[in-house]
Amino acid sequence: MDNLYYSDYIELDKILNSQHPKSFSSPEEGNDEMLFIIIHQVYELWFKQIIFELDLVRHIFIRGRINDNSDDMSKAVHKLKRIGRILELINQQVSVLETMTALDFLEFRNLLLPASGFQSRQFRLIEAKLGLKLNQRYKREYYRTTRRGSLSEADLQEVSHVESESTLKELIVQWLERMPFFDESYWREYRQAAELNSEEHHKFWIDYRNAYRNSLSENEGSRLAEFDKVFFEAGRGDVSPTAMRAALFITIYRNLPIFHLPFELLNTLSEIDELLSNWRYRHFMMVRRMIGLRVGTGGTSGAGYLEGTLSQHYAFREITEVATFLIERSKRPLLPKALKEKVSFNV
Ligand code: HEM
Repeated sequence: MDNLYYSDYIELDKILNSQHPKSFSSPEEGNDEMLFIIIHQVYELWFKQIIFELDLVRHIFIRGRINDNSDDMSKAVHKLKRIGRILELINQQVSVLETMTALDFLEFRNLLLPASGFQSRQFRLIEAKLGLKLNQRYKREYYRTTRRGSLSEADLQEVSHVESESTLKELIVQWLERMPFFDESYWREYRQAAELNSEEHHKFWIDYRNAYRNSLSENEGSRLAEFDKVFFEAGRGDVSPTAMRAALFITIYRNLPIFHLPFELLNTLSEIDELLSNWRYRHFMMVRRMIGLRVGTGGTSGAGYLEGTLSQHYAFREITEVATFLIERSKRPLLPKALKEKVSFNV
């Protein structure tokens, strides 16, 4: 076998010959466009790795029955945590680009029109694979392919196709819906504290609802109606009441060993949402410093548009907002022994 050579293995020549600034041709007359290109390329490489990890996690869940204490589950959590570390890294990279000033940027900015990070296919694929749908986005009209600076027709089709496959969010909701916690056989010995009987709701949830009501302060009256809506009636956003109940249950009893990995999973999804919005925030602040209130090269309103995405673009908002409905540890209903011992978590 031939000796493998470092630069051949990582195809370094291709990468190092892929920087072609539009504003200068020799290093003597160079400006910050080189930094601008390289930093975008580095981002795109990390986006590629994130997509790779996301697909792996999606396939674990697509296979259906996964054991919550199995290798599959810990692999999924591990890969999602890796995505978190990559996002931390690329958040820090913003400060490298910020060493370029607004005037430095102006030297080549107009040559970029109408291209923009808005057209980053991989960034859109990450959003779509996580579960952010095109029709839930801020200023959906910006995605029309006839608009200058929008995604190309082929890229938009690819993003729409990913949306029609199972997104990570849909898979997580299905996994939560399969949780077998409320099989009657586990609850025979459970002693309901609340007096109310209900055909409709499980005795555990009647107790939990009571405990939650008692935990509310005077000016939080409307929270109980919201609790009923989220956990018994409509669910929240794209997440069904059954899945919301499972997410709350895992969060409340996360100290039990069987819930350790499921809780880690939910927590890491919230973390990914948070890190992505940290990126949106840093990018938005940088853009304001760089172009002030001017429109973007991609033709959006610029900083105003980016600020809108910051408050609206979350994939796992519902999971994060489970915190609204927690009660103190000491007030939690005691779980029956049979449930603690027997739930096998083969879901
Ligand atoms: C001088 C630096 C930068 C400026 C002034 C800038 C400016 C903008 C502006 C104004 C937009 C809105 C679309 C438009 O109308 O153009 C945008 C979107 C975007 N930019 Fe940047 N950008 C910069 C650097 C970067 C870098 C380094 C990345 C890394 C890949 C990036 C990725 C993106 C992405 C993914 C979007 C779409 C955001 C969304 O729609 O949620 N940008 N950028």
